[in-house]
Amino acid sequence: MEIKRLDAPFGCEVLGLDINSGVSKDDYLQVRAAFEAHSVVVIRGNPLSDETQIAFSEMFGPCEKTLKGNPAAGSVFARQSNLDIATGDRIPADDRRMFYQKANMLWHADSAFKPRASLCSILSARIIPSEGGATEVASTRLAYEALDTPTKAKIDPLIAEYSLVWSRGLIGYEFNDEERSTMHKVRHPLVRENPANKAKSMLIGAHAMNIRGWDQKEGLELLNYLLEHATQPEFCYSHNWQEGDVLIWDNRACVHRATPYNANAEKRLMQRTTIGDVSDEAFDREAVAA
Ligand SMILES: [Fe+2]
Repeated sequence: MEIKRLDAPFGCEVLGLDINSGVSKDDYLQVRAAFEAHSVVVIRGNPLSDETQIAFSEMFGPCEKTLKGNPAAGSVFARQSNLDIATGDRIPADDRRMFYQKANMLWHADSAFKPRASLCSILSARIIPSEGGATEVASTRLAYEALDTPTKAKIDPLIAEYSLVWSRGLIGYEFNDEERSTMHKVRHPLVRENPANKAKSMLIGAHAMNIRGWDQKEGLELLNYLLEHATQPEFCYSHNWQEGDVLIWDNRACVHRATPYNANAEKRLMQRTTIGDVSDEAFDREAVAA
C-alpha cells in the first residue's frame, strides 16, 4: 500500500488497497493516519458492495442510521441517486426526492445537525454520469489556519447551532410532521481541535444557523463570512468520479457539495456511509426539538 498527496491543496490517494478482499488492521491504521493528516482520502478501483462498504466503514466507528427523507432511511446508507430505489428507473426531475437532494449542492458538513456530529463520510461510486456530478471538498482546517489571529481568538470559544430543518429551508424544502419529529436543533463547538494532531478546523456550512446567544442576523453574518472564506479555490479539492472510486472526507475538518449533472438523461448512484464521532465533545446532550 502506498499513500501519496493529491495534486491539490490537501488530500491524499491510497494506492494498492483492495477493500473487497478485506482490510487488515494494519492497513486500516495507515489509512486512518492518512485521513487524520490529510482530511480527504481517495481510493480508486474499488467497486464496493454494500457489505464490504459497511465492513470498511465500521473500522472507523459506528455507522449512522439514515434519517427519514432519504430513500434508504432506516439503513446505514444515505443514497445519493436519481434512480428509484425499488425499480431502478430514473426519478422525474420534479419529484420531491430529487428536490430533497438539491440541498447537496450547498456547502455542508454531513450530520452537523445531529446530536452526535460525524467523524467522516465514505462515498462509493456505483454508477456515474458521463459528465458532471463532481464532489467538491473544502478544508476548514486550511481555512482556519489562514485566518488572522484576532479572528481565531474571536471564534475559538463560540458554540454554533445547527439544524436540518433550517438548511433544507434554504432551498424551500419543508419536512412533514412525521419527519420533523425525529429532528433536533443542536449545538457544537464552532472550532474543533483534532485529537490526533491538534489541528483546528471549523464546523460550518448550510446546517449552521446561528451562534449560541447571538442575534441570528449577526450569527449568520459571521457563519457566511467563514464559509465564503473557507470555500475559496486555494482551500478546495474537486473530485471527478470514476466508477469504483471511494472517497473519505473528514466532516470535522471539511465542507463539501455536489455539482450538477444531467439527471434527466443520465444515471447516478452513490452510496454513502456516515460514521459518528464518538468523542465526548461531538455530542450535544441538550439537543432540543427542531
Ligand atoms: Fe453531504
